[in-house]
Amino acid sequence: MVKCKKGLLNSHQVILFYSKTQDFKFNTLYTDYSATTNLDQILQDRERNENGKSVYKRDEDGNPILGKEKKGVPLSDVWEIPYLNPKAKERTGYPTQKPVLLLNQILNIATDEDDLVVDPFCGSGTTCVSAKSLKRNYIGIDISADAVELANSRLHEMIVSTSNLLSKGTNEYFEKTDKELAILQNINAFPVQRNLGIDGFLKEHCDGTPVPVKIQTEHESIEDAVEKLEKATYGKNYKMKILIQTKETGISRLFGFETDVTILKSLELQTKELANKKNERLKRVLLNGVSAKLNGSNSIKL
Ligand SMILES: C[S@@+](CC[C@H](N)C(=O)[O-])C[C@H]1O[C@@H](n2cnc3c(N)ncnc32)[C@H](O)[C@@H]1O
Repeated sequence: MVKCKKGLLNSHQVILFYSKTQDFKFNTLYTDYSATTNLDQILQDRERNENGKSVYKRDEDGNPILGKEKKGVPLSDVWEIPYLNPKAKERTGYPTQKPVLLLNQILNIATDEDDLVVDPFCGSGTTCVSAKSLKRNYIGIDISADAVELANSRLHEMIVSTSNLLSKGTNEYFEKTDKELAILQNINAFPVQRNLGIDGFLKEHCDGTPVPVKIQTEHESIEDAVEKLEKATYGKNYKMKILIQTKETGISRLFGFETDVTILKSLELQTKELANKKNERLKRVLLNGVSAKLNGSNSIKL
């Protein structure tokens, strides 16, 4: 076998499920419908037609039949459970510690309240902490006395990290508007979420360093936007920082304001300014025409 670096990024782990007999407990968990599921799919019953194709069930008059109460989408075999944040209180420092949320999912599927859970290699005791929090009975075993001590202290403290990713889903993290995404796309930048002072980064580095980009928001003055970008990039030594200006500035305190932020006007703002200039010129031509007429004659015909 040849060891090769080429390939896809390994980002999943497989959980094996075994049962001694055919008769085993397996609870179905439900998740929310995805954003792409339409209302008909949720509300209406389906059946197979004569060709075996799944179609909406209809009554004699051809009206769709509303289905039974739905609990959501049965949990799939792909779970997105984040690694423990390095600063999470739940983290014990045990090298192979698993997140309690992972064990919660497993125990919710395979057990009910008051069942007995046994982990013969319990390490830092994650399974036991999960079992206790879900009101299951538990036994943890480990060859290492340190592990047993750690597991006992965790069972005493019962610290379980919550995960916004799990409770709200990844969509909750996408906070950029379509307009902001379009602005970033226009300058070949990718978006970053959950950062007050930086909205994205150019895909190409400048002078060997990344280039952060901020978009001025509706309620932000240009100075505030510059300050936020400066603050978010402080100490990072970026060679270039870009602020996309989206509004006309009023009286600016940028005079005498030291900044190495490059301010670029958004295409929308440039277009607006161009249109304003044209309108102003048209107004001036019209006014000049009227005053020439007034000067040339003593009376104006109405
Ligand atoms: C992968 S770790 C378990 C980590 C655990 N899931 C957690 O979240 O902390 C495996 C554990 O098995 C224990 N172990 C290894 N051989 C063992 C044996 N023969 N009997 C009992 N425990 C053993 C190790 O001390 C180690 O703590």
